[in-house]
Amino acid sequence: MNPIERTSDEQRVPVLSARGLVKTYGHVVGLDGVSLDLYPGEVLAIIGDNGAGKTTLIKCLTGAEIPDDGELRLDGEPVHFRRPQDARDAGIETVYQSLAVSPALDVAANMYLGRELRRPGILGSMLRLIDTKTMRENAKAELRELGISTLQDVTVPIENLSGGQRQAVAVARAAAFGSKVVVLDEPTAALGVRESNQVLELILRLRDRGIPVILISHNMPHVFDVADRIHIQRLGKRAATITPQTHSMTDAVAIMTGAKAA
Ligand SMILES: Nc1ncnc2c1ncn2[C@@H]1O[C@H](COP(=O)(O)OP(=O)(O)O)[C@@H](O)[C@H]1O
Ligand SMILES: [Mg+2]
Repeated sequence: MNPIERTSDEQRVPVLSARGLVKTYGHVVGLDGVSLDLYPGEVLAIIGDNGAGKTTLIKCLTGAEIPDDGELRLDGEPVHFRRPQDARDAGIETVYQSLAVSPALDVAANMYLGRELRRPGILGSMLRLIDTKTMRENAKAELRELGISTLQDVTVPIENLSGGQRQAVAVARAAAFGSKVVVLDEPTAALGVRESNQVLELILRLRDRGIPVILISHNMPHVFDVADRIHIQRLGKRAATITPQTHSMTDAVAIMTGAKAA
């Protein structure tokens, strides 16, 4: 790490901070003492070869796995997530690679999936009637605020959208509810160039709204385009944390594969 970066890091308090995370699956070591800091207003990319522990790492950060050892802090306070809902309740939203959207439901319903708003008064509390109107208005406002202009009709079923538009809905949902952190696992993996660019712009807009983003990606140009810092996983460990200013893509790949020391 260069001295300038270290100085500035010391003055900032991480939003999310992990120390010495360990996760084993039987004899397989998924994570071998991994530490990570996510600072306010940054995009932190996580890269690494297949099996390096990227998914295990974010699962441990988001309550999908319980680490065997290590500690996690949110805004400086120790947290112990036992399930994904715990992390969600704490303001950490995750978009997994396999999109959790319901194809037959419309855009607004998907954004509120599992968090449906009820009608005011007895209609909502007793009859559990869903407040479709407010959900649609809110969904529309959220999409507009994120600059997703191609998606103004929130009554369209998700199955009629392109891959990029679906991904945009998933990211917008995370943005709407992720008050502290948004985590994206390979958000552009299945997308074309134009759609990928839209999702990357969305990530930058989220960051500009003050929400730090953790981005897992195999795509080096995408990572180098949007990341402020890059955490490199190798064989279950953090090999290095670099920046696009201090290291080239070639350097990053060399560290990832072990051809070059950090
Ligand atoms: N549920 C599981 N059971 C057994 N081994 C697992 C499980 N999940 C991950 N692993 C192993 O842990 C290591 C890290 O996997 P993973 O975090 O998925 O890597 P990446 O996302 O970087 O490709 C791999 O060796 C993988 O096979
Ligand atoms: Mg993975």
